[in-house]
Amino acid sequence: YGYPVQDLARHCTFEEVAYLLANGELPSRAQLSRFRRAERALREIDRDHVGVIARFSRAAHPMDTLRTAVSYLGTREVAWGGEKPATDKRRAMALLAKIPTVMATDYRFRNAKRRIRPRDDLSFSENFCYMCFGRKPAPEVARALDTSLILYAEHGFNASTFAARVVASTLSDIYSAVTAAIGALKGPLHGGANEAGMHMLGEIGTPARAEAWIRGAIERKRLIMGFGHRVYRTGDSRVPTMNKCLEDLSAWKGDDRWLRITQTLARVVIAEKGIHPNLDFPSGPAYDLMGFDIDLFTPIFVMSRITGWSAHYLEQIADNRLIRPLSAYTGPPQRKVRPLARR
Ligand code: COA
Repeated sequence: YGYPVQDLARHCTFEEVAYLLANGELPSRAQLSRFRRAERALREIDRDHVGVIARFSRAAHPMDTLRTAVSYLGTREVAWGGEKPATDKRRAMALLAKIPTVMATDYRFRNAKRRIRPRDDLSFSENFCYMCFGRKPAPEVARALDTSLILYAEHGFNASTFAARVVASTLSDIYSAVTAAIGALKGPLHGGANEAGMHMLGEIGTPARAEAWIRGAIERKRLIMGFGHRVYRTGDSRVPTMNKCLEDLSAWKGDDRWLRITQTLARVVIAEKGIHPNLDFPSGPAYDLMGFDIDLFTPIFVMSRITGWSAHYLEQIADNRLIRPLSAYTGPPQRKVRPLARR
């Protein structure tokens, strides 16, 4: 909608950006207050839904439980695409409001703890931290989480958004589109890179090891997670804003281990390969400093990107045409089938 994401990150809350993606304009005070009230009123999930989450294996990855729990929401009503836009907008709002509750509930159960109900007096980011950890986060954490959610909210025709639009174009429903998008986001070449990048930082361990490790990885032609981008060839414009968050969080925590490792890796990979870090590279260690387990990093991406997916879904069905590419066939020319007895 014309706003540089860096400006949105500097001047807005995540709720304002969610409103922008749902409505095409930034909200006035009154509009924001109505939007917040509506989102907060929809945060709770019902007992049956909690029961479904309670039955997931504790060993399951949170992206798999989230994908399944979102799909479950679609079983509560008979939903088809191309219904009244107001119906789909209501569903999009419910998905935005309930996804953090689903994630926090699953997180608590996985750690053998009782679930914590959402609060309606906390912001989107504060409430998520509260539901995971049982206390309101420090302002530094809430602001950094909000900034990362703004940076992740929407990003053109990335793989998960494209998956959502393909599903929308068949006039299937929003739950199916979002479920497909979550499946696409999980992969380490897409959203899963923030987890994979963090595992890599853990493997390196200390800043002193970073330079030798990355040079060895380059020599062995290893894929460096959190680097490279299909569209950005000279750097991801969201990275400086997220780097600043990582710096601020490191200073706040008095722990600059990840910051120093990421700085060394970025310097060497840019110099040796001309490949730049993408947003997933600084966001992983920032989430770690906020106190989140690594397997929650990609679900946090979902918590934000749901706004972009929903906006694309609504745009697709407002002026729909089935997305059905042709493939360039390179197999044998047409031939006759020989019955089994003669083969
Ligand atoms: N580490 C090491 N080498 C990389 C690399 C990385 N992260 N990203 C790209 N390259 C290499 C490729 O292997 C290729 O080398 P080659 O020409 O010798 O075969 C060259 O750089 C050009 O890459 P290209 O094929 O144009 O990249 P792509 O557009 O197909 O891939 C990604 C884009 C994002 C899939 C890729 O960069 C990647 O896998 N990155 C790591 C995962 C990641 O961070 N994903 C999040 C993206 S937001």
